[in-house]
Amino acid sequence: MKKIIVRGGSPLNGDVYISGMKNAALPIIFACILSKGKNILYNVPRVSDIELSFDILRSLGATVSERADGGIELDTAGVRSEVAPYELVSKMRGSTYLIGAMLSRFGEARVGLPGGCNFGDRPIDQHVKGFATLGAQISFDEGSLRADAGDGLVGNSVYLDIASVGATVNIIIAAVFAKGTTVVMNAAREPHIVDLANFLNHCGADIRGAGTNTIKIHGVSELHPCEYSISPDMIEAGTFMVAAATAGGCVNVKNIIPEHLDTITAKLREAGAKLEVFDDSITVTSDRWLRGVTIKTWPYPGFATDMHPQFSAMLCYANGVSTIGEGIFDGRFKYVDELKKMGASIDVDGNVASIIGGMPLHGASVSATDLRAGAALVIAALAAQGTTEIGGVEFIERGYCNIDKKLRALGADIYAVEV
Ligand code: EPU
Repeated sequence: MKKIIVRGGSPLNGDVYISGMKNAALPIIFACILSKGKNILYNVPRVSDIELSFDILRSLGATVSERADGGIELDTAGVRSEVAPYELVSKMRGSTYLIGAMLSRFGEARVGLPGGCNFGDRPIDQHVKGFATLGAQISFDEGSLRADAGDGLVGNSVYLDIASVGATVNIIIAAVFAKGTTVVMNAAREPHIVDLANFLNHCGADIRGAGTNTIKIHGVSELHPCEYSISPDMIEAGTFMVAAATAGGCVNVKNIIPEHLDTITAKLREAGAKLEVFDDSITVTSDRWLRGVTIKTWPYPGFATDMHPQFSAMLCYANGVSTIGEGIFDGRFKYVDELKKMGASIDVDGNVASIIGGMPLHGASVSATDLRAGAALVIAALAAQGTTEIGGVEFIERGYCNIDKKLRALGADIYAVEV
């Protein structure tokens, strides 16, 4: 078992290079099933959720290998229409993308229902509605979902009741070979949706409108494999930006698409950090004198729910009262009890956290309750007085590549240790 040990109080200075976006890489990796051959992916983040997705594909007959140039070669020619082991798919939310991918390639899918970070009920009714609207017969038995497309899926209009990232991804993947045109209305607009559509279009798909709330997929008869570089991870970038604002210092966050971070940039400026935005980097300078802000999480281009816990940690150090309203996941507040062990003053009423900030936090023994909660604890610990021991490191490793090494290179006193 690992712990992360942080001795707080060191400012952060220097350059940090952001990895590829986990939530774009996952759908792209599963979508490789459609192109039946050797795809080469670059800028793939080597986090545990991605390694798990490789294991799932291997279990179905794909080969995954690392190239000398750092790319990942994913050969999906040998993928079989089989059921992936439940112990693999149940560990990760992104494995739902297997349903769309298998349905698309084989006309049938049987997939165990997914796990992932636990912040409340995470239904997949909108995914199911999409598959059914394209003509699939859906049934559930023994914890798995069965989808059968008979003579093939047929394009249709799907209105999503919620602009769900996962449902948008799954319907796009399922509709690539559907006869005619599929229209997804109230689609999610996140950059990972655009990345998926770009990848599939490179492979020969005909997808238009990704990044807007209406996406049209004109069915094609086949795809070919391609080379593709995954976009940088806006949540990893945002996490380092918030870490710099909280710990103080001057950090250049590099290899990013600054437009993806507009809301994060705006809120950090409102809180008093100084930001300079360049073509593919943002410099954050902070003297640690921050003020409280009001935040409401919302689907992109709104404020990302995946940045909520990290901002909460920062706002514990900001003068005044801040509020964070959670608009996506009801159960996103589990990190609050852990921050309270470090002296935070946070009240949660329904889906709103009120944070009374401005008093220093102190080191404590705490545990990550999910991926972004873990990032929040690391940020809180960087500026805390004394030493913090963070458990639940396996959650953090699901989505951050070497967070300890990257922060140590910026001057933090942080080590991941086996205990
Ligand atoms: N929802 C439904 N029905 C559905 C699908 C979603 O009611 O069929 C609800 C969910 O319960 C939630 C809301 O709609 O309240 C949004 O869920 P969405 O489907 O957009 O989220 P997701 O696809 O399950 C992805 C990311 C999450 C990120 C959310 C929101 C992946 C693998 N996961 O989850 O990332 O928080 O979008 O942006 O892409 C993370 O990286 O830490 C993470 C949790």
